[in-house]
Amino acid sequence: MIRDQLLDAFGKAKRVFVFTGAGAIKESGLPTFRDLDGEWRKYDPMTFATMEGFVRDPVAVWNMYRMRQKQIAQAEPNPGHVTLSRFDHHYPDFLLTTQNVDDLHERAGSRRIVKIHGNAWEMRCLDTGEVFDVRDFDLPDEFTVNTLPRCPRCGTICRPNIVWFGEYVPQDLMMASMNAAATCDLMLVVGTSGEVSNGYGFAEYALANGAKIVEINPREGALTHYAHFWIPEPAGVALPRIWRLLTGEDISYQLSENES
Ligand code: APR
Repeated sequence: MIRDQLLDAFGKAKRVFVFTGAGAIKESGLPTFRDLDGEWRKYDPMTFATMEGFVRDPVAVWNMYRMRQKQIAQAEPNPGHVTLSRFDHHYPDFLLTTQNVDDLHERAGSRRIVKIHGNAWEMRCLDTGEVFDVRDFDLPDEFTVNTLPRCPRCGTICRPNIVWFGEYVPQDLMMASMNAAATCDLMLVVGTSGEVSNGYGFAEYALANGAKIVEINPREGALTHYAHFWIPEPAGVALPRIWRLLTGEDISYQLSENES
């Protein structure tokens, strides 16, 4: 039975690599990018997610990130996030590489995380490259050209610490992720269309190492053809069910109890 083979893959795994995308935050009320109600349907990515766009209109770009920060602050981790943090504590060798720039994985208790596209709560000095947490500063809710975030050391304008289109993921983060993919025996692909750089080739590395690949996504994407198991369901439903079948613990139950 497929389900038994799937649970067997989770049961036998020792080194687990998880790759997440915006689908993982959908059930927390945050938008993805390319779904029908996705961010890139509302905002032109060339204006809001490129250095050229930032230079043209830094106020508009910063206000989009300010709005995103408010959304993230109001959102809560969903059962998918909580399950992935259980996996982090369960498997001896584990890494979660996320394309998401929110902090819901961390707030759900995940520890071994690599954020390859940056962090929405951070700003970076355009001169020195030094990174600061925007929550350490008294920044306005809405920016104007005179109130744009500036480096507390040199006064240079700061940009959001996000990897934009046409930019490279920091090498150390890419190496850590490629290493984990190339040595894992189980890879989870959760909530990504795989549109960006074909998922950075992580699935190919995992396959080359003989790993089992499980994709969780209601829709087929660019990485589905690599998967041994494709679960066409929301992550917040499929992940807790797998965990319950593995351990008997019902995360979705727990979450509703906390909210009451
Ligand atoms: N559970 C799991 N997957 C879901 C869910 C859900 N509840 N809801 C939607 N999805 C899937 C969609 O089917 C889609 O395949 O999540 C995926 C989201 O894809 P994208 O919007 O393309 O987001 P992502 O893959 O993370 O984009 C990668 O592109 O725009 C850049 O830098 C940005 O990090 C982002 C990168």
